[in-house]
Amino acid sequence: MTKAAVDPCIFVILGASGDLTRRKLLPALLRLNAKGMAPDKLIVLGTARTADFDDAAFRADARRSLQSAGMSSEEMSHWCDECLHFLQMSKGDSDDYRRLATCIEQLEREHGTPANRAFYLALPPRAFPSAIEGLGEAGLNRSSGWTRLVIEKPFGRDLKSAQELNALVHRYYNEAQVYRIDHYLGKETVQNLLVFRFANPIFETIWNRDRVESVQITVAETVGIEGRAGYYEESGVLRDMVQNHLTQLLAVVAMEVPSAFKANAIRNEKMKVLDSISPIHPNDAVFGQYIEGMVDGIPVPAYRQEPKVRPDSQTATYAALRLEIANWRWQGVPFLLRTGKRLAKRITQIAVSFRCPPVALFRPNPCPEIQPNVLVITIQPDEGFDLSFEVKVPGDMRLQRQSLDFRYGEVFSDIPEAYETLLLDIVTGDQTLFVRADLVETSWHLYSHLLENPPGLHLYTSGTWGPSAADALIKKHGTKWLPE
Ligand code: BG6
Repeated sequence: MTKAAVDPCIFVILGASGDLTRRKLLPALLRLNAKGMAPDKLIVLGTARTADFDDAAFRADARRSLQSAGMSSEEMSHWCDECLHFLQMSKGDSDDYRRLATCIEQLEREHGTPANRAFYLALPPRAFPSAIEGLGEAGLNRSSGWTRLVIEKPFGRDLKSAQELNALVHRYYNEAQVYRIDHYLGKETVQNLLVFRFANPIFETIWNRDRVESVQITVAETVGIEGRAGYYEESGVLRDMVQNHLTQLLAVVAMEVPSAFKANAIRNEKMKVLDSISPIHPNDAVFGQYIEGMVDGIPVPAYRQEPKVRPDSQTATYAALRLEIANWRWQGVPFLLRTGKRLAKRITQIAVSFRCPPVALFRPNPCPEIQPNVLVITIQPDEGFDLSFEVKVPGDMRLQRQSLDFRYGEVFSDIPEAYETLLLDIVTGDQTLFVRADLVETSWHLYSHLLENPPGLHLYTSGTWGPSAADALIKKHGTKWLPE
Protein backbone atom coordinates (compact mmCIF):
# COMPACT_ATOMS: atom_id res chain seq x y z
CA MET A 1 0.00 0.00 0.00
CA THR A 2 1.62 3.23 -1.07
CA LYS A 3 -0.19 6.42 -0.44
CA ALA A 4 0.24 10.12 -0.81
CA ALA A 5 2.19 11.72 2.00
CA VAL A 6 0.07 12.44 5.00
CA ASP A 7 0.09 15.71 6.86
CA PRO A 8 0.66 15.90 10.58
CA CYS A 9 -2.78 16.19 12.13
CA ILE A 10 -5.01 15.70 15.11
CA PHE A 11 -7.51 12.88 14.94
CA VAL A 12 -10.41 13.56 17.27
CA ILE A 13 -12.67 10.63 18.15
CA LEU A 14 -16.03 11.54 19.61
CA GLY A 15 -17.18 8.40 21.39
CA ALA A 16 -13.73 7.21 22.43
CA SER A 17 -14.94 4.95 25.24
CA GLY A 18 -17.15 2.94 22.88
CA ASP A 19 -16.90 -0.41 21.23
CA LEU A 20 -16.09 0.91 17.75
CA THR A 21 -13.10 2.88 19.04
CA ARG A 22 -11.77 -0.07 20.99
CA ARG A 23 -12.41 -2.76 18.38
CA LYS A 24 -11.68 -0.89 15.14
CA LEU A 25 -10.38 2.67 15.34
CA LEU A 26 -7.57 2.31 17.86
CA PRO A 27 -6.18 -0.90 16.32
CA ALA A 28 -6.32 0.68 12.85
CA LEU A 29 -4.57 3.88 14.00
CA LEU A 30 -1.95 1.82 15.79
CA ARG A 31 -1.33 -0.39 12.79
CA LEU A 32 -0.94 2.64 10.53
CA ASN A 33 1.52 4.07 12.96
CA ALA A 34 3.45 0.84 13.33
CA LYS A 35 3.74 0.64 9.53
CA GLY A 36 5.00 4.20 9.46
CA MET A 37 2.03 5.26 7.35
CA ALA A 38 0.37 7.61 9.75
CA PRO A 39 1.72 11.14 9.95
CA ASP A 40 4.90 11.70 11.89
CA LYS A 41 2.78 13.64 14.26
CA LEU A 42 -0.53 11.89 14.51
CA ILE A 43 -2.16 13.11 17.67
CA VAL A 44 -5.26 11.25 18.78
CA LEU A 45 -7.70 13.01 21.05
CA GLY A 46 -10.54 10.87 22.37
CA THR A 47 -13.64 12.39 23.91
CA ALA A 48 -16.59 10.78 25.66
CA ARG A 49 -19.30 11.63 28.12
CA THR A 50 -18.49 8.68 30.40
CA ALA A 51 -17.35 9.87 33.80
CA ASP A 52 -15.15 6.85 34.53
CA PHE A 53 -12.93 7.25 31.48
CA ASP A 54 -9.73 9.27 31.24
CA ASP A 55 -6.28 9.52 29.61
CA ALA A 56 -5.12 6.39 31.42
CA ALA A 57 -8.17 4.31 30.42
CA PHE A 58 -7.81 5.45 26.81
CA ARG A 59 -4.12 4.54 26.72
CA ALA A 60 -4.83 1.22 28.44
CA ASP A 61 -7.34 0.38 25.67
CA ALA A 62 -4.68 1.23 23.12
CA ARG A 63 -2.06 -0.95 24.84
CA ARG A 64 -4.49 -3.87 24.90
CA SER A 65 -5.01 -3.39 21.16
CA LEU A 66 -1.26 -3.36 20.65
CA GLN A 67 -0.87 -6.57 22.59
CA SER A 68 -3.70 -8.42 20.90
CA ALA A 69 -2.34 -7.42 17.49
CA GLY A 70 1.17 -8.49 18.49
CA MET A 71 2.45 -4.93 17.93
CA SER A 72 3.57 -4.22 21.45
CA SER A 73 6.95 -2.48 21.35
CA GLU A 74 8.72 0.21 23.31
CA GLU A 75 8.32 2.62 20.44
CA MET A 76 4.57 2.07 20.14
CA SER A 77 4.09 2.22 23.87
CA HIS A 78 5.92 5.53 23.87
CA TRP A 79 3.67 6.79 21.07
CA CYS A 80 0.59 5.88 23.16
CA ASP A 81 1.89 7.91 26.10
CA GLU A 82 2.95 10.85 23.97
CA CYS A 83 0.18 11.08 21.43
CA LEU A 84 -3.03 9.68 22.90
CA HIS A 85 -5.07 12.15 24.90
CA PHE A 86 -8.54 12.18 26.34
CA LEU A 87 -11.03 14.91 27.15
CA GLN A 88 -14.20 14.24 29.05
CA MET A 89 -17.24 16.03 27.62
CA SER A 90 -19.80 15.11 30.22
CA LYS A 91 -22.61 17.40 29.13
CA GLY A 92 -22.05 17.64 25.40
CA ASP A 93 -23.19 21.27 25.50
CA SER A 94 -21.67 24.36 23.89
CA ASP A 95 -19.26 24.81 26.83
CA ASP A 96 -17.92 21.33 26.26
CA TYR A 97 -17.34 22.05 22.57
CA ARG A 98 -15.56 25.30 23.44
CA ARG A 99 -13.34 23.32 25.85
CA LEU A 100 -12.71 20.88 23.03
CA ALA A 101 -11.61 23.72 20.74
CA THR A 102 -9.24 25.02 23.42
CA CYS A 103 -7.85 21.55 24.10
CA ILE A 104 -7.18 20.98 20.37
CA GLU A 105 -5.35 24.31 20.05
CA GLN A 106 -3.29 23.53 23.12
CA LEU A 107 -2.32 20.07 21.80
CA GLU A 108 -1.42 21.57 18.43
CA ARG A 109 0.86 24.05 20.17
CA GLU A 110 2.46 21.42 22.40
CA HIS A 111 3.08 18.99 19.54
CA GLY A 112 3.87 21.65 16.95
CA THR A 113 1.12 20.32 14.68
CA PRO A 114 -0.57 22.51 12.08
CA ALA A 115 -4.35 22.87 12.36
CA ASN A 116 -5.22 19.76 10.33
CA ARG A 117 -8.14 18.11 12.05
CA ALA A 118 -10.31 15.05 11.51
CA PHE A 119 -13.41 14.64 13.68
CA TYR A 120 -14.69 11.08 13.79
CA LEU A 121 -18.23 10.63 15.09
CA ALA A 122 -17.99 7.16 16.65
CA LEU A 123 -21.30 7.85 18.33
CA PRO A 124 -24.77 6.36 18.39
CA PRO A 125 -26.69 7.83 15.43
CA ARG A 126 -29.08 9.80 17.66
CA ALA A 127 -26.06 11.78 18.88
CA PHE A 128 -24.89 12.82 15.36
CA PRO A 129 -26.98 16.01 15.05
CA SER A 130 -25.94 17.51 18.38
CA ALA A 131 -22.28 16.64 17.76
CA ILE A 132 -22.32 18.22 14.27
CA GLU A 133 -24.00 21.30 15.63
CA GLY A 134 -21.67 21.44 18.65
CA LEU A 135 -18.57 21.23 16.45
CA GLY A 136 -19.94 23.73 13.95
CA GLU A 137 -21.04 26.29 16.51
CA ALA A 138 -17.67 26.07 18.27
CA GLY A 139 -15.99 26.94 14.95
CA LEU A 140 -14.48 23.46 14.68
CA ASN A 141 -15.73 23.12 11.10
CA ARG A 142 -12.93 25.31 9.74
CA SER A 143 -9.26 25.83 10.52
CA SER A 144 -6.16 27.28 8.96
CA GLY A 145 -5.30 23.75 7.75
CA TRP A 146 -7.84 21.11 6.72
CA THR A 147 -10.88 20.00 8.71
CA ARG A 148 -12.73 16.76 7.94
CA LEU A 149 -15.87 15.29 9.42
CA VAL A 150 -16.22 11.51 9.52
CA ILE A 151 -19.65 10.01 10.10
CA GLU A 152 -20.28 6.37 10.87
CA LYS A 153 -23.20 4.45 9.49
CA PRO A 154 -26.18 4.41 9.74
CA PHE A 155 -26.53 7.81 8.10
CA GLY A 156 -30.21 8.47 8.80
CA ARG A 157 -32.88 5.83 9.20
CA ASP A 158 -34.85 6.69 6.07
CA LEU A 159 -34.80 9.17 3.21
CA LYS A 160 -36.25 12.05 5.21
CA SER A 161 -33.88 11.72 8.16
CA ALA A 162 -30.89 11.31 5.81
CA GLN A 163 -31.89 14.49 3.98
CA GLU A 164 -32.24 16.32 7.28
CA LEU A 165 -28.87 15.08 8.46
CA ASN A 166 -27.25 16.08 5.17
CA ALA A 167 -28.80 19.53 5.46
CA LEU A 168 -27.37 19.90 8.95
CA VAL A 169 -23.94 18.66 7.85
CA HIS A 170 -23.94 21.11 4.93
CA ARG A 171 -24.88 23.99 7.19
CA TYR A 172 -21.36 23.74 8.62
CA TYR A 173 -19.25 21.65 6.23
CA ASN A 174 -18.94 21.48 2.48
CA GLU A 175 -19.18 18.03 0.88
CA ALA A 176 -15.42 17.88 0.22
CA GLN A 177 -14.94 17.85 4.01
CA VAL A 178 -17.36 15.00 4.67
CA TYR A 179 -16.42 11.32 4.92
CA ARG A 180 -19.46 9.03 5.34
CA ILE A 181 -18.24 5.59 6.28
CA ASP A 182 -19.39 2.34 4.77
CA HIS A 183 -16.70 -0.02 5.97
CA TYR A 184 -17.44 -2.50 3.17
CA LEU A 185 -15.90 -0.02 0.73
CA GLY A 186 -12.66 -0.19 2.70
CA LYS A 187 -12.36 -3.95 2.25
CA GLU A 188 -9.41 -4.68 0.02
CA THR A 189 -11.36 -7.11 -2.17
CA VAL A 190 -14.16 -4.61 -2.73
CA GLN A 191 -11.60 -2.10 -3.96
CA ASN A 192 -10.07 -4.81 -6.08
CA LEU A 193 -13.40 -5.19 -7.85
CA LEU A 194 -12.64 -1.91 -9.61
CA VAL A 195 -9.24 -3.19 -10.69
CA PHE A 196 -10.69 -6.55 -11.67
CA ARG A 197 -13.32 -4.92 -13.83
CA PHE A 198 -11.43 -2.03 -15.37
CA ALA A 199 -7.91 -3.43 -15.70
CA ASN A 200 -9.03 -6.72 -17.28
CA PRO A 201 -10.89 -6.00 -20.49
CA ILE A 202 -11.66 -9.69 -21.08
CA PHE A 203 -14.29 -9.45 -18.39
CA GLU A 204 -15.43 -5.95 -19.17
CA THR A 205 -16.48 -6.89 -22.69
CA ILE A 206 -18.85 -9.58 -21.41
CA TRP A 207 -20.09 -7.60 -18.40
CA ASN A 208 -23.51 -6.76 -19.76
CA ARG A 209 -27.02 -7.97 -20.56
CA ASP A 210 -25.87 -9.79 -23.73
CA ARG A 211 -23.68 -12.19 -21.77
CA VAL A 212 -24.81 -12.08 -18.16
CA GLU A 213 -27.83 -14.09 -17.05
CA SER A 214 -27.99 -12.92 -13.45
CA VAL A 215 -25.89 -11.38 -10.69
CA GLN A 216 -26.10 -12.47 -7.07
CA ILE A 217 -24.72 -10.71 -4.05
CA THR A 218 -24.66 -12.61 -0.77
CA VAL A 219 -23.55 -11.24 2.58
CA ALA A 220 -24.14 -14.13 4.96
CA GLU A 221 -23.27 -13.95 8.63
CA THR A 222 -23.23 -16.64 11.29
CA VAL A 223 -23.32 -14.16 14.13
CA GLY A 224 -26.56 -13.00 15.69
CA ILE A 225 -27.09 -9.44 16.84
CA GLU A 226 -24.15 -9.59 19.27
CA GLY A 227 -25.92 -7.91 22.19
CA ARG A 228 -27.00 -4.91 20.09
CA ALA A 229 -30.76 -5.36 20.49
CA GLY A 230 -31.29 -1.66 21.26
CA TYR A 231 -29.85 -0.73 17.88
CA TYR A 232 -31.00 -3.73 15.87
CA GLU A 233 -34.64 -3.70 16.95
CA GLU A 234 -34.86 -0.18 15.52
CA SER A 235 -32.89 -0.91 12.40
CA GLY A 236 -33.40 -4.48 11.15
CA VAL A 237 -31.59 -5.96 8.21
CA LEU A 238 -32.69 -3.45 5.58
CA ARG A 239 -31.20 -0.49 7.43
CA ASP A 240 -28.29 -2.43 8.91
CA MET A 241 -26.95 -4.14 5.79
CA VAL A 242 -28.97 -3.65 2.60
CA GLN A 243 -29.28 0.13 2.26
CA ASN A 244 -25.55 0.53 2.76
CA HIS A 245 -23.20 -2.45 2.34
CA LEU A 246 -25.12 -4.48 -0.25
CA THR A 247 -26.17 -1.43 -2.22
CA GLN A 248 -22.58 -0.20 -2.37
CA LEU A 249 -21.40 -3.62 -3.57
CA LEU A 250 -24.11 -3.59 -6.22
CA ALA A 251 -23.04 -0.14 -7.41
CA VAL A 252 -19.41 -1.22 -7.76
CA VAL A 253 -20.37 -4.36 -9.68
CA ALA A 254 -22.74 -2.58 -12.05
CA MET A 255 -21.18 0.86 -12.62
CA GLU A 256 -19.79 2.10 -15.91
CA VAL A 257 -16.09 2.84 -16.43
CA PRO A 258 -15.34 6.12 -14.65
CA SER A 259 -13.68 8.91 -16.60
CA ALA A 260 -10.75 8.84 -14.16
CA PHE A 261 -9.72 6.99 -11.04
CA LYS A 262 -10.85 9.89 -8.92
CA ALA A 263 -13.33 10.09 -6.07
CA ASN A 264 -16.04 12.05 -7.80
CA ALA A 265 -15.67 10.33 -11.16
CA ILE A 266 -16.20 6.98 -9.44
CA ARG A 267 -19.00 8.25 -7.25
CA ASN A 268 -20.76 9.80 -10.27
CA GLU A 269 -20.87 6.38 -11.95
CA LYS A 270 -22.17 4.72 -8.80
CA MET A 271 -24.83 7.37 -8.57
CA LYS A 272 -26.00 6.64 -12.13
CA VAL A 273 -26.43 2.96 -11.23
CA LEU A 274 -28.54 3.74 -8.18
CA ASP A 275 -30.58 6.21 -10.18
CA SER A 276 -31.36 3.51 -12.76
CA ILE A 277 -32.67 0.92 -10.32
CA SER A 278 -36.37 0.26 -10.90
CA PRO A 279 -38.71 0.32 -7.88
CA ILE A 280 -38.56 -3.04 -6.12
CA HIS A 281 -41.81 -4.97 -6.50
CA PRO A 282 -43.14 -6.22 -3.12
CA ASN A 283 -43.22 -9.76 -4.57
CA ASP A 284 -39.49 -9.44 -5.15
CA ALA A 285 -38.68 -9.03 -1.47
CA VAL A 286 -38.51 -11.77 1.15
CA PHE A 287 -37.91 -10.88 4.80
CA GLY A 288 -37.04 -13.40 7.48
CA GLN A 289 -36.21 -13.70 11.15
CA TYR A 290 -34.14 -16.46 12.75
CA ILE A 291 -35.48 -18.95 15.22
CA GLU A 292 -33.32 -21.22 17.38
CA GLY A 293 -31.00 -23.68 15.70
CA MET A 294 -27.37 -24.78 15.52
CA VAL A 295 -24.59 -22.59 14.16
CA ASP A 296 -21.16 -24.16 13.80
CA GLY A 297 -22.36 -27.02 15.98
CA ILE A 298 -23.46 -24.73 18.82
CA PRO A 299 -27.12 -24.24 19.79
CA VAL A 300 -28.21 -20.61 19.46
CA PRO A 301 -31.40 -18.88 20.61
CA ALA A 302 -34.13 -17.41 18.44
CA TYR A 303 -33.96 -13.69 17.66
CA ARG A 304 -36.97 -13.11 19.89
CA GLN A 305 -35.10 -14.78 22.76
CA GLU A 306 -32.07 -12.51 22.47
CA PRO A 307 -31.66 -10.20 25.47
CA LYS A 308 -33.73 -7.01 25.17
CA VAL A 309 -35.55 -8.11 22.01
CA ARG A 310 -39.35 -7.83 22.17
CA PRO A 311 -40.88 -11.33 22.43
CA ASP A 312 -43.19 -10.54 19.50
CA SER A 313 -40.60 -8.58 17.51
CA GLN A 314 -41.30 -8.25 13.78
CA THR A 315 -37.76 -7.07 13.03
CA ALA A 316 -36.26 -8.80 9.99
CA THR A 317 -32.82 -10.36 10.33
CA TYR A 318 -32.77 -11.66 6.74
CA ALA A 319 -33.66 -10.12 3.39
CA ALA A 320 -33.61 -11.43 -0.17
CA LEU A 321 -34.41 -8.99 -2.95
CA ARG A 322 -34.54 -8.90 -6.68
CA LEU A 323 -33.56 -5.62 -8.30
CA GLU A 324 -33.42 -4.49 -11.88
CA ILE A 325 -31.15 -1.84 -13.29
CA ALA A 326 -32.96 -0.15 -16.13
CA ASN A 327 -30.02 1.01 -18.22
CA TRP A 328 -28.39 -0.03 -21.49
CA ARG A 329 -25.93 -2.34 -19.87
CA TRP A 330 -28.20 -4.21 -17.50
CA GLN A 331 -31.84 -3.99 -18.61
CA GLY A 332 -33.52 -7.35 -17.92
CA VAL A 333 -30.69 -8.86 -15.84
CA PRO A 334 -31.90 -9.76 -12.34
CA PHE A 335 -29.67 -8.61 -9.48
CA LEU A 336 -30.42 -10.92 -6.58
CA LEU A 337 -29.32 -9.70 -3.17
CA ARG A 338 -29.50 -11.59 0.10
CA THR A 339 -28.14 -11.10 3.55
CA GLY A 340 -28.93 -12.45 6.96
CA LYS A 341 -27.74 -13.23 10.44
CA ARG A 342 -27.33 -16.74 11.85
CA LEU A 343 -26.96 -18.29 8.43
CA ALA A 344 -25.13 -21.49 7.56
CA LYS A 345 -21.78 -19.91 6.82
CA ARG A 346 -20.01 -16.56 6.99
CA ILE A 347 -19.41 -15.51 3.44
CA THR A 348 -19.61 -12.40 1.27
CA GLN A 349 -19.72 -13.27 -2.37
CA ILE A 350 -20.69 -11.89 -5.74
CA ALA A 351 -21.68 -14.51 -8.32
CA VAL A 352 -22.01 -13.48 -11.94
CA SER A 353 -23.74 -16.19 -14.01
CA PHE A 354 -23.16 -16.01 -17.73
CA ARG A 355 -25.62 -17.14 -20.36
CA CYS A 356 -25.61 -20.79 -21.43
CA PRO A 357 -24.67 -21.73 -25.00
CA PRO A 358 -27.55 -21.01 -27.39
CA VAL A 359 -27.66 -24.63 -28.60
CA ALA A 360 -27.38 -27.62 -26.27
CA LEU A 361 -24.88 -29.58 -28.38
CA PHE A 362 -24.05 -32.06 -25.66
CA ARG A 363 -27.56 -32.75 -24.41
CA PRO A 364 -27.88 -36.37 -25.69
CA ASN A 365 -25.02 -37.30 -23.39
CA PRO A 366 -25.74 -38.96 -20.08
CA CYS A 367 -24.69 -35.87 -18.19
CA PRO A 368 -26.56 -33.13 -16.42
CA GLU A 369 -27.53 -30.13 -18.47
CA ILE A 370 -24.78 -27.64 -19.10
CA GLN A 371 -24.45 -25.23 -16.26
CA PRO A 372 -23.73 -21.57 -16.91
CA ASN A 373 -20.19 -20.32 -16.47
CA VAL A 374 -20.11 -18.56 -13.15
CA LEU A 375 -17.59 -16.06 -11.92
CA VAL A 376 -17.58 -16.02 -8.13
CA ILE A 377 -15.84 -13.13 -6.43
CA THR A 378 -15.35 -13.86 -2.76
CA ILE A 379 -15.01 -10.74 -0.66
CA GLN A 380 -14.55 -12.60 2.65
CA PRO A 381 -13.29 -14.89 4.05
CA ASP A 382 -10.81 -16.66 1.78
CA GLU A 383 -10.80 -13.72 -0.62
CA GLY A 384 -10.41 -14.60 -4.28
CA PHE A 385 -12.03 -15.48 -7.61
CA ASP A 386 -13.35 -18.69 -9.10
CA LEU A 387 -14.42 -19.07 -12.71
CA SER A 388 -16.30 -22.28 -13.39
CA PHE A 389 -16.51 -23.98 -16.77
CA GLU A 390 -17.19 -27.38 -18.33
CA VAL A 391 -14.46 -29.83 -19.41
CA LYS A 392 -14.61 -33.15 -21.17
CA VAL A 393 -13.96 -36.21 -19.03
CA PRO A 394 -11.05 -38.12 -20.67
CA GLY A 395 -12.02 -41.21 -22.65
CA ASP A 396 -15.70 -40.41 -22.56
CA MET A 397 -17.97 -37.70 -23.98
CA ARG A 398 -19.09 -36.55 -20.59
CA LEU A 399 -18.82 -33.06 -19.17
CA GLN A 400 -17.50 -32.13 -15.80
CA ARG A 401 -17.45 -28.83 -13.98
CA GLN A 402 -14.06 -27.38 -13.09
CA SER A 403 -12.83 -24.00 -12.07
CA LEU A 404 -9.94 -21.62 -12.41
CA ASP A 405 -9.24 -19.95 -9.16
CA PHE A 406 -7.14 -17.30 -7.53
CA ARG A 407 -6.78 -16.86 -3.77
CA TYR A 408 -5.54 -13.56 -2.43
CA GLY A 409 -3.99 -15.09 0.66
CA GLU A 410 -1.76 -17.38 -1.41
CA VAL A 411 -0.14 -14.44 -3.18
CA PHE A 412 -0.30 -11.53 -0.79
CA SER A 413 0.28 -11.37 2.92
CA ASP A 414 -0.89 -8.59 5.15
CA ILE A 415 -4.21 -7.60 3.63
CA PRO A 416 -5.09 -4.39 5.46
CA GLU A 417 -8.24 -4.27 7.52
CA ALA A 418 -11.01 -2.02 6.15
CA TYR A 419 -10.69 0.61 8.87
CA GLU A 420 -6.97 0.88 8.32
CA THR A 421 -7.56 1.78 4.68
CA LEU A 422 -10.38 4.16 5.50
CA LEU A 423 -8.52 6.02 8.25
CA LEU A 424 -5.52 6.45 6.01
CA ASP A 425 -7.80 7.84 3.29
CA ILE A 426 -9.30 10.29 5.75
CA VAL A 427 -5.94 11.71 6.72
CA THR A 428 -4.74 11.78 3.13
CA GLY A 429 -7.98 13.39 1.95
CA ASP A 430 -9.10 10.70 -0.50
CA GLN A 431 -12.92 10.47 -0.62
CA THR A 432 -13.17 7.64 -3.16
CA LEU A 433 -14.26 5.04 -0.61
CA PHE A 434 -16.74 7.28 1.18
CA VAL A 435 -20.40 7.74 0.46
CA ARG A 436 -21.39 11.06 -1.04
CA ALA A 437 -24.57 12.86 0.10
CA ASP A 438 -26.55 12.12 -3.07
CA LEU A 439 -25.59 8.43 -2.94
CA VAL A 440 -26.76 7.99 0.61
CA GLU A 441 -30.07 9.70 -0.10
CA THR A 442 -30.70 7.75 -3.29
CA SER A 443 -30.00 4.46 -1.58
CA TRP A 444 -32.56 5.31 1.13
CA HIS A 445 -35.03 6.28 -1.59
CA LEU A 446 -34.63 2.84 -3.19
CA TYR A 447 -35.91 1.06 -0.11
CA SER A 448 -38.43 3.66 1.11
CA HIS A 449 -41.54 1.70 0.25
CA LEU A 450 -40.14 -1.51 1.76
CA LEU A 451 -39.36 0.36 4.95
CA GLU A 452 -42.87 1.77 5.03
CA ASN A 453 -44.65 -1.46 4.02
CA PRO A 454 -42.38 -4.38 4.84
CA PRO A 455 -43.39 -7.74 3.41
CA GLY A 456 -44.54 -10.50 5.80
CA LEU A 457 -41.89 -12.16 7.90
CA HIS A 458 -40.74 -15.76 7.26
CA LEU A 459 -39.11 -17.54 10.16
CA TYR A 460 -35.95 -19.53 9.40
CA THR A 461 -33.91 -21.91 11.48
CA SER A 462 -30.54 -20.59 12.60
CA GLY A 463 -27.70 -22.31 10.80
CA THR A 464 -29.61 -22.68 7.51
CA TRP A 465 -29.52 -20.51 4.39
CA GLY A 466 -32.68 -18.59 5.33
CA PRO A 467 -36.38 -18.97 4.57
CA SER A 468 -37.55 -21.23 1.75
CA ALA A 469 -39.50 -18.29 0.32
CA ALA A 470 -36.12 -16.87 -0.73
CA ASP A 471 -35.41 -20.05 -2.70
CA ALA A 472 -38.76 -19.65 -4.41
CA LEU A 473 -37.86 -16.05 -5.26
CA ILE A 474 -34.66 -17.03 -7.04
CA LYS A 475 -36.21 -20.08 -8.70
CA LYS A 476 -38.54 -17.73 -10.57
CA HIS A 477 -35.43 -16.54 -12.36
CA GLY A 478 -34.35 -20.03 -13.29
CA THR A 479 -31.40 -20.09 -10.97
CA LYS A 480 -30.44 -20.93 -7.38
CA TRP A 481 -28.54 -19.21 -4.62
CA LEU A 482 -24.77 -19.53 -4.61
CA PRO A 483 -23.57 -20.83 -2.25
CA GLU A 484 -26.61 -23.02 -1.61
C1 BG6 B 1 -22.10 -3.75 10.31
C2 BG6 B 1 -23.45 -4.19 10.79
O1 BG6 B 1 -22.20 -2.57 9.57
O2 BG6 B 1 -21.53 -4.77 9.49
C3 BG6 B 1 -23.36 -5.51 11.54
O3 BG6 B 1 -23.98 -3.20 11.66
C4 BG6 B 1 -22.65 -6.55 10.69
O4 BG6 B 1 -24.64 -5.97 11.91
C5 BG6 B 1 -21.33 -5.99 10.17
O5 BG6 B 1 -22.43 -7.70 11.49
C6 BG6 B 1 -20.72 -6.95 9.17
O6 BG6 B 1 -19.43 -6.50 8.84
P1 BG6 B 1 -18.26 -7.51 8.45
O7 BG6 B 1 -17.14 -6.62 8.07
O8 BG6 B 1 -18.02 -8.35 9.66
O9 BG6 B 1 -18.79 -8.31 7.31
